[in-house]
Amino acid sequence: MTKLLFVCLGNICRSPSAENIMNHLIEKADLGDRITCDSAGTGGYHIGSPPDKRMAVAARKRDIELLGAARQFQRKDFENFDLILAMDRDNYRNILALDNAGKYKEKVRLMCDFCQKYDLKEVPDPYYGGPEGFDRVIDLLLDACEGLLEYVK
Ligand code: 4NP
Repeated sequence: MTKLLFVCLGNICRSPSAENIMNHLIEKADLGDRITCDSAGTGGYHIGSPPDKRMAVAARKRDIELLGAARQFQRKDFENFDLILAMDRDNYRNILALDNAGKYKEKVRLMCDFCQKYDLKEVPDPYYGGPEGFDRVIDLLLDACEGLLEYVK
């Protein structure tokens, strides 16, 4: 079983989208017995909240339902997951700041490293922008999740 953890700041926009998009692709590929997904935020402001409504609207346009409740990234996640996917460089830095001994650096990657069509290096934070930003996040994550699925396979 390969365990994937998607991480952003609030765990209400980008990382729950990545988690649910990945689950959608895993289900389509009939790989549910080989890959599992979860998501978390480096910040704790939204603990327990469902995914952002604007993000859910954008995901639904692609027939993807956003499920889950926000939680904060914890040190024990380093042990519990095989691959930790950071949405942007701040998330990446904040995750590795918790890896005091530098033991888990190999497990932490930028999500956009797996993009095949898009050239962006980070998944932009859509929180303070308009609806088009949420659509862009879904398209970018679909691309990255397809690449990630190939990598994990
Ligand atoms: P996320 O988006 O990190 O993709 O979940 C954000 C959610 C909340 C905030 C910022 C980004 N916030 O500032 O509350």
